[in-house]
Amino acid sequence: MPAPLDPAHADFARDPYPYYARLRAQGPAARVPLANGTHAWLVTGYGPARAVLGDPRFSNVPPRRAGRPRADSPAERARSCLARHMLNSDAPGHLRLRRLTTAAFTPRRVDALRPRVERLTDTLLARLRTRLDREGTADLVDAFAFPLPVLVIGEVLGVPEADRDALREWTYRVGSPADALAPGAVDEAWTSLYTYFRELIADKRRAPGDDLFSTLVAGERDGGLDDGELLAMAFLLLFAGYETTMNLLASASLLLLTHPGERAAACAGGPARWAAVTEETLRHASPLEGTTWRRTTEAVDLGGGVVIPAGEPVLVVLAAAGRDPEHFPEPDAFRPDRYLPGDGVRAAAHLGFGHGPHFCLGARLARLEAAVALPRLFTALPSLTLAADPRELPYRPGLLVRGPRRVPVRLARP
Ligand code: HEM
Repeated sequence: MPAPLDPAHADFARDPYPYYARLRAQGPAARVPLANGTHAWLVTGYGPARAVLGDPRFSNVPPRRAGRPRADSPAERARSCLARHMLNSDAPGHLRLRRLTTAAFTPRRVDALRPRVERLTDTLLARLRTRLDREGTADLVDAFAFPLPVLVIGEVLGVPEADRDALREWTYRVGSPADALAPGAVDEAWTSLYTYFRELIADKRRAPGDDLFSTLVAGERDGGLDDGELLAMAFLLLFAGYETTMNLLASASLLLLTHPGERAAACAGGPARWAAVTEETLRHASPLEGTTWRRTTEAVDLGGGVVIPAGEPVLVVLAAAGRDPEHFPEPDAFRPDRYLPGDGVRAAAHLGFGHGPHFCLGARLARLEAAVALPRLFTALPSLTLAADPRELPYRPGLLVRGPRRVPVRLARP
């Protein structure tokens, strides 16, 4: 029986990989007791992870919670409407939502965001430089990795520039633990986001913009998303898109700051080298530690003597799948060259964006953000240096998202 898993523990949050390696050695899935007294099946190997994510017997629909209080406050309504999104659905409902959204997220439309992502990046970098000059140090998460993805989602949703600071502030608050802010501040932020998104949808209906979200709103007449679905979609895009990308940018920056050889190679190389840094970060430091929860609709035999009974909670641990030594030699080493195109053997595709029907809808956008942000950061601030011991940086607790909460930096003196 594996040791109980306590995702809130700071040491586990910082380095969960040895624990996952022990589970992987036990077979395709392990039944793990959780610190809260329940249990879950964790899938930690690369092959079993792909198999589970492509298997319709693992459902994404959350179980109905008996005795759940009615959503009678605006903050509760906001939270429960978020729960209606496409990640929480199975075929055929999921297919419909996915088809409508994919039509808005075409590669051409995503690529067209590049100049705006560049402009947002340069503005943030100018502010970061001023702060570093003035204060000596700054937190790269707070000043760069957090605001950039939120501002980009603002572009996707067509949030007017004047409202972006408010969007950023509400997002920050709803993502904070309730006890970290003044009483009621998290609920207030949920309410503000809910009200704001409702008005945004009404505005887009009256006067559609050239943003991706307007395309979704306009599709309503042709059997597209209704108001509740649009609201859920706005929340999903915000939450699926910001913390994940924030962790990608924060982890990639941290890995480059702690691997000077790889940093020099990236700065001397071209876009392919930077793309390899992004892919290797997605494998080595998966921004989503696990996927969303699945539940077996019937008993499933995963081989190796492991049968998961019907109705059981299952978590596919993407962070662990990326470190599977059977598929990635030297899995704990940060080696972007494994993703360089060329004559060598390219590494297996990582599972950082998931796999199967729920494969990340924003993968192209996330890659675009990293392709713009990382080279610009290290070119604009060539003397950027870590201002803390990397072994002591705090990581976000929990099994869903993974990344450093703070990356303190300074400019090295010439
Ligand atoms: C580095 C950044 C990102 C990572 C690592 C990431 C990762 C993932 C993963 C692993 C899934 C599948 C989850 C599951 O199967 O339970 C997913 C789904 C999704 N992602 Fe991302 N994501 C990123 C950025 C984005 C962005 C920027 C957006 C949108 C603007 C986005 C929108 C979505 C949506 C809508 C889904 C649900 C797809 C569906 O249910 O069919 N993601 N993402």
